[in-house]
Amino acid sequence: MKCDISNPSLAAGGKLRIEWANNDMPVLQEVRKRFSKEKPLKGLRMAACLHITAETANLARTLKAGGANLVLCASNPLSTQDDVAAALAKHYGIPVFAKKGEDTKTFYRHIAACLAHKPHITMDDGADLVSTILREKRYSGLWDSILGSMEETTTGVIRLRAMQKDGILKFPVIAVNDADTKHLFDNRYGTGQSTVDGIIRATDILLAGKKAVVAGYGWCGRGVANRARGMGSHVVITEVDPIRALEAAMDGFEVMPMKDAAKVGDLFVTLTGDKQVIRKEHFREMKDGAMVCNSGHFDVEIDIPALRKMSTKVKKNVRNFVDEYVISAKKSIFLLGEGRLINLTAAEGHPACVMDMSFATQALASEFCVKKKGKLAAVVHNVPAKIDAWVAKLKLKTMGIKIDTLTPAQRKYLTSWGEGT
Ligand SMILES: NC(=O)c1ccc[n+]([C@@H]2O[C@H](COP(=O)([O-])OP(=O)(O)OC[C@H]3O[C@@H](n4cnc5c(N)ncnc54)[C@H](O)[C@@H]3O)[C@@H](O)[C@H]2O)c1
Repeated sequence: MKCDISNPSLAAGGKLRIEWANNDMPVLQEVRKRFSKEKPLKGLRMAACLHITAETANLARTLKAGGANLVLCASNPLSTQDDVAAALAKHYGIPVFAKKGEDTKTFYRHIAACLAHKPHITMDDGADLVSTILREKRYSGLWDSILGSMEETTTGVIRLRAMQKDGILKFPVIAVNDADTKHLFDNRYGTGQSTVDGIIRATDILLAGKKAVVAGYGWCGRGVANRARGMGSHVVITEVDPIRALEAAMDGFEVMPMKDAAKVGDLFVTLTGDKQVIRKEHFREMKDGAMVCNSGHFDVEIDIPALRKMSTKVKKNVRNFVDEYVISAKKSIFLLGEGRLINLTAAEGHPACVMDMSFATQALASEFCVKKKGKLAAVVHNVPAKIDAWVAKLKLKTMGIKIDTLTPAQRKYLTSWGEGT
């Protein structure tokens, strides 16, 4: 089996971590059980470009159980868990092309290795497979045979909608990120907790009493803001959207432009999906010792080239995943995780409990693409509401939570207009 991983001897530890994660993924387990019997993906080749984590491994096991012939590569050069990659190859027979810390050339070589598999279904976290397939002529032969592509994250969906607008999408895409069972939980609670986890593992700072500046009050940003506040930080929000800024203000956060926040922050976290959110004019205002990190998809949210230019020296790895940018004798700025997703760089990504929903939805969306073969237009589609509802109901059940149901009178009342005062 062809693979490119860092260290095959890590497989045993990786398997234990995959099994541990699996314990907290009961919805995905249920999907796997059915997929093992029904084999909805039988005879299909799949390529998935995802963060290679223990949770992703359990998704991969599910797709394989469903009959898919699957290969994996990393959706970020720093997010691969090498022990998981080794275990996938050795214990689950799934080819992986991913190494933590791979350079850009290797990253794209791994994407090419996945595409050489000639997938019928692709899965992306950031639209790298799809954009490569559409950009490079040598993959045009795949356009007609791809049944569909799943997209896991906000930035990926933004890129895919831009491709649709430019009229270059050639096959259907499912915006898994936009399912309620995905972004309302994964982006908010998953990113919220794991980003704080990554910051703490990288720096060991006490969050209580710190001024934490969170850029972006979207689903991820509000997750991080609330977790940081829960740990005693004074949280400042920066936004460009008036509605979201208003929400942040009424949720009790201080809201101000980055140029003002730069002066007061101890810790900065970007989660906007935008570029150059923290740039030269902001670094200039920052206090000595300010820590800056990103948990948005790409490493463009912090203008690292500008920071490098302003610095007299860069001391790499003053701790694991912490680089010191020396601006002057009196001022240093610390960049965490090289500006890449701090929750996956310095910690383990989202906890399994929340990825359970995201990945059950991913697996079911793939099955949906197969069932709808040839019937879906080459545009960005939403996950069917039925899938969302099934995942939510089962998740509640596995959490031991029961809810009320509408009485017939209530159902009628809620769909009519006749009754009033
Ligand atoms: N770290 C992770 O594991 C993880 C998980 C899910 C999503 N993501 C990524 O996180 C990013 C945010 O995702 P989301 O779901 O919260 O998106 P979202 O669209 O819900 O929120 C983004 C927010 O950022 C704001 N924003 C845009 N430009 C800004 C700027 N210059 N300054 C301040 N605010 C700005 C927008 O107005 C919006 O409110 C995306 O890149 C997404 O792919 C990361």
